[in-house]
Amino acid sequence: MTTILAIESSCDETAASVIRDGKEILSNHVHTQIAIHAQYGGVVPELASRSHTERILPVIQACMESSALDLNDMDAIAVTQKPGLIGSLLVGVTAAKALAFSLEKPLIGVNHIHAHLYANTFDHGEMKFPCIGMVVSGGHTSLLLGTSPLDWEVVGETIDDAAGEAFDKVAKLLELSYPGGPIIEEMALKGDDSLIDFPQSMLGKESLDFSFSGLKTAALYACRGKDARSAFDNKLIVDVHDAAASFQKSVVSVLAKKALRALKKYDVDTLYIGGGVVCNKALRKELEERLHPNDCEVFYPSPKYCTDNAAMIGGLAYHHWLAKNFIGLEAEIG
Ligand code: KG4
Ligand code: ZN
Repeated sequence: MTTILAIESSCDETAASVIRDGKEILSNHVHTQIAIHAQYGGVVPELASRSHTERILPVIQACMESSALDLNDMDAIAVTQKPGLIGSLLVGVTAAKALAFSLEKPLIGVNHIHAHLYANTFDHGEMKFPCIGMVVSGGHTSLLLGTSPLDWEVVGETIDDAAGEAFDKVAKLLELSYPGGPIIEEMALKGDDSLIDFPQSMLGKESLDFSFSGLKTAALYACRGKDARSAFDNKLIVDVHDAAASFQKSVVSVLAKKALRALKKYDVDTLYIGGGVVCNKALRKELEERLHPNDCEVFYPSPKYCTDNAAMIGGLAYHHWLAKNFIGLEAEIG
């Protein structure tokens, strides 16, 4: 039996979890900074790291209390080592190093993207390999070829904005709240997705990369006029519901088409998805509609394990533990 305390602070959630053998979640605490960043319509890195600094110890303490275990009962300390905002990562990694050093426990560094995919095991059990993984969040839009929980090769990624970032920026220009994804999804339910013809950037026949910056500019012109230069120029000239529905359709179509392209290219039939945007029901439906006729299956975590959390970090850390992949106190971040 292996019990791990995991810490996550790569973006705007301060999180800790105690997890046993990679699957039994004894406690899972997340402190979100949404209220801090909402007024800016996106994550402000300096404010994020300051908030992590304030919350990291209370979150770890609350997590330990609800696990009913003691820090000395931990077999290892795990932490998100990359990728993420450097100032944010630094807070979690420093806390984890200090704990590992003082408790004389091994330290495990975890890749946040791989952990988003591992989150699928909490709902679906062991992952099937080989598979394709797709992580879609505020900071990442990536396709990966997986051969084990620890072995992932990036086969495609965004060349500009992440999909979640596009949701957040388009929400801003539609005068909707932050984070944009959930509110755009809600608005889209009452809109007509065929009223505005937004571009779907496929970047050529073979490409597995993504680009959302053209869509963002198209949304600006369609919603605020061709002479608009920023989200604050001019008045809205479209119905918010129709704009949200048309924009969402464009994003989910591209994501589903690229996922299917990757499955076909690598001749595998299993797709795991993860990240905040995966909460989106239109995306899930689109993936099922495109994949099922092609005899491919898609798995997604329940919403609380789609967004950033430390249980996914501790879960994947167990596989590092089995492989004896430990890092030293001198380990770098990012
Ligand atoms: O994974 P996550 O919590 O943090 C990052 O690592 O970025 O993802 C946050 C992103 C935000 O951009 C948010 O707008 C988006 O996920 N998001 C959604 C939905 N829920 C969250 N996007 C589309 N539809 C949703 N329902
Ligand atoms: Zn994330």
